Amino acid sequence: MQVTVVGTGYVGLVQGVCLAELGHSVTCIDIDPAKIERLTRGISPIYEPGIEELITANVAAGRLAFSTPEGGWAPLLSEVVFIAVGTPMADNGAADLSYVRSAVDSIARAATGPMTLVMKSTVPPGTGATLQARFLAHADAEIGYVSNPEFLREGSAVRDFFEPDRIVLGGSSVADVERVAAVYAPLVDRCAASGLSCPIVKTDVASAETIKYASNAFLSTKISFINEIANVCDCVGADIDSVAEGMGLDVRIGRHFLGAGIGYGGSCFPKDTRALDFISTLNGYQFDLLKAVIDVNNRQRLLPVIHLAKALPDLHERTIAVLGLAFKPHTDDVRESPAIDIVPLLLEEGAKVRCYDPLAAPLDLGEAVRCDTVWDALSGASAAVLVTDWPELVELDWARARSVMADPAIVFDGRNALDASAVKAAGCVYMAVGRPGAHRS
Ligand code: UDX
Ligand code: UDX
Repeated sequence: MQVTVVGTGYVGLVQGVCLAELGHSVTCIDIDPAKIERLTRGISPIYEPGIEELITANVAAGRLAFSTPEGGWAPLLSEVVFIAVGTPMADNGAADLSYVRSAVDSIARAATGPMTLVMKSTVPPGTGATLQARFLAHADAEIGYVSNPEFLREGSAVRDFFEPDRIVLGGSSVADVERVAAVYAPLVDRCAASGLSCPIVKTDVASAETIKYASNAFLSTKISFINEIANVCDCVGADIDSVAEGMGLDVRIGRHFLGAGIGYGGSCFPKDTRALDFISTLNGYQFDLLKAVIDVNNRQRLLPVIHLAKALPDLHERTIAVLGLAFKPHTDDVRESPAIDIVPLLLEEGAKVRCYDPLAAPLDLGEAVRCDTVWDALSGASAAVLVTDWPELVELDWARARSVMADPAIVFDGRNALDASAVKAAGCVYMAVGRPGAHRS
């Protein structure tokens, strides 16, 4: 099938490239000419394992093309158009829908034949109905609407596309839903051939929109919940690793997303939880549980600074290493990374801050220094905070780290990812979240 994807960010690029890999003829559009120019040369604007190989192969096979809408939208459109432009968080916590509106408006004006518009951008429940009434209803062509939320984790987005837990299609008509289901038919076949099931949930637009927010809110709730339990562990002397294991073996609970630490970041969870809270309030409902999830997460990322300020009363005379700037490993994305709060707070306390990340995108770090190597960042540091659990940081040679660090060489493990005994054996002081036993030598 001919398919168009608007927006070549994390979601749109993965969507477009993977649809081409399934055999469709895909045109990816972006308003950023620099991005499109690089993409046509096979260079991905994002770091995502496997994506560049797929771009090269599918461009060579003639199934994938990139373009800006500068020469007009009409020639770029096809019977199925996916929208995957960003929906960043506005200052008030709402989802900023200006890019989505602009893209839908452009498409509605340019459409000449029947088409199904598929929303992959995360938009609050009710948005689909509003977009249809405001833009699509007045178009010259007949344009159907389907909400098809994405569940792609950065760093494993290509695998998540090809091995989905489910595909959600919420449409205004059965014909539109079936048209989009046909786009995914090769994926369903491919999963079946590998013995994987790929259920398609067919529903209405508002329910599909809500499934996306409810899923991310639930996963965020799991993380904040386990972080609260970890804080209780610190109070009562229990070990969060054992507690999470013991809880997670109950299939009703599940082991995933019970990793305690300094909380969630990224382009989705912080923004989506805030947007769901905002839309609930706007509709006259106070979503108290969700508010608590957000509060816990905001507090959790302060823990390294709180503990270091207690352990080092002369923090203003100390150098602190911040290890990891990306919001999680295997991505260069720094959006809503805990480091964005931790670094300025340490600077405010008067500490000198030296940061290291193997891949993170450029980031305004104020007075803090970004070092080229982890050893440079650790050099002379009285303490190190692990913000991102990159394998190279998790498997660090702690004896070497200790040899370049200053006393008392505290290692605050913000991801509960380190081998506490290895860190302590090297002569460092180990601190983590909900691992009180590991603090003692
Ligand atoms: C996506 C989703 O769209 C968002 O709703 C979801 O919650 C997270 O994932 P992401 O792919 O991370 O966002 O967005 P971003 O990396 O900001 O990329 C958006 C792309 O759309 C950019 O390349 C931008 O240039 C492009 N864009 C933006 C357009 O092509 N047209 C516009 O009008 C606006
Ligand atoms: C998320 C969703 O998982 C995905 O379905 C899609 O909606 C986009 O948003 P992503 O943000 O890429 O994916 O990363 P994810 O792996 O979900 O992690 C999000 C954050 O939670 C990271 O900061 C991670 O460090 C944190 N996290 C995750 C924990 O703190 N504990 C855990 O147990 C798991």
